[in-house]
Amino acid sequence: HHHVLTLADFTLAEYDTVLQTAASFQEVLSRRTKKVPSLQGQVVANLFFEASTRTRSSFELAAKRLSADTLNFASATSSITKGETILDTAKTYLAMGTDIMVIRHREAGVPNAIAAEMDRLGVKVSVLNAGDGQHEHPSQALLDLFTICTLIDPENPRLELLKNKKIAIVGDILHSRVARSNIWSLTASGAQVHLAAPPTLLPQLFADYVSDDEVGEEDQGRGGPGERGRGGDGERGRQGEKENSKFNTLSPTPPLLHSSTPPLPTPHSPLPTPHSPLPNRNLFIHWQLEPALKDADFVMTLRLQKERMTAHLLPSLREYHQMFGITRTKLQLCQPHVKVLHPGPVNRGVEISSDLMDDPEFSLIQAQVTSGVAVRMALLYLIGSGRS
Ligand code: CP
Repeated sequence: HHHVLTLADFTLAEYDTVLQTAASFQEVLSRRTKKVPSLQGQVVANLFFEASTRTRSSFELAAKRLSADTLNFASATSSITKGETILDTAKTYLAMGTDIMVIRHREAGVPNAIAAEMDRLGVKVSVLNAGDGQHEHPSQALLDLFTICTLIDPENPRLELLKNKKIAIVGDILHSRVARSNIWSLTASGAQVHLAAPPTLLPQLFADYVSDDEVGEEDQGRGGPGERGRGGDGERGRQGEKENSKFNTLSPTPPLLHSSTPPLPTPHSPLPTPHSPLPNRNLFIHWQLEPALKDADFVMTLRLQKERMTAHLLPSLREYHQMFGITRTKLQLCQPHVKVLHPGPVNRGVEISSDLMDDPEFSLIQAQVTSGVAVRMALLYLIGSGRS
């Protein structure tokens, strides 16, 4: 790959190359010097048109560990505030000799548009998507993959380790570029991927795929402590139905279509739609949490993205936590060895209970952040070394 804009076109071999390369950089990071000369003389520009803590800092650190020179741009302190366009900003960084542009923007397709412009200009600049609107966040999904695979086999992380593992992705799927990228990688691995969200926070596209195992079925498994999700009874199932409709009552217009403005087309390239087509393998959609959690090996929680929600989409946080927040009690439905992930930033006590978030027995949140540096080193190295 010249650019990394999406995981939709990643091959199985490419996933394994990233995982193995990241593992070798993880080893480098455990040494005293922590640094290799691989990208000496190259310039990595972090062009962040939207807020970030983890992604921007870990791309910067990854570039520095590879001995590249780094430029950091944040739109709020840039000449964007004076009316400079995104493409003119990118061309300014090009003129300074940038080799790799790492781009985050609140609109889907901006990294694609910049990559297309660089290609049109015939320059050898690579673009890495660091999160574009509700579209994709490839480096996040790759670091999630690395975190899970290294937990299973630290010596040899590889995609096949996830085959037939059950992975629940819970929460604000509608607005989540993290979920979209993870759906590509995890379904490619052969994992059983179960999405759980209230209907208001699932894309319309998914509505046709909601599993038949929802409310009112015998095996509803709303189990409390000790039930471990097996059995359950009809009464519990009907209770689940009531809770679900209560949720919809509190969000009176269930707007299954997301309401954000679609990205504006540019003269230079057609933009992708915010939602990539569904990979129709190993993917299960639920309007309730329990069927997704039942016997899960890993649970990925997602942030409620309030900044992308119109008021009628925002659920009551208390009710959301009650129904979809991950707690110790709800984890008892999962496998005993279950681990919980969250891309961050976390709304503490909303999508995950505060004590669970801090419990190293269950939480991989800090490990994800640590993995991010090695995985981003791998991406920069694989792209950057192909350039020379
Ligand atoms: N996970 C993630 O993208 O975090 P930041 O928004 O802080 O970069």
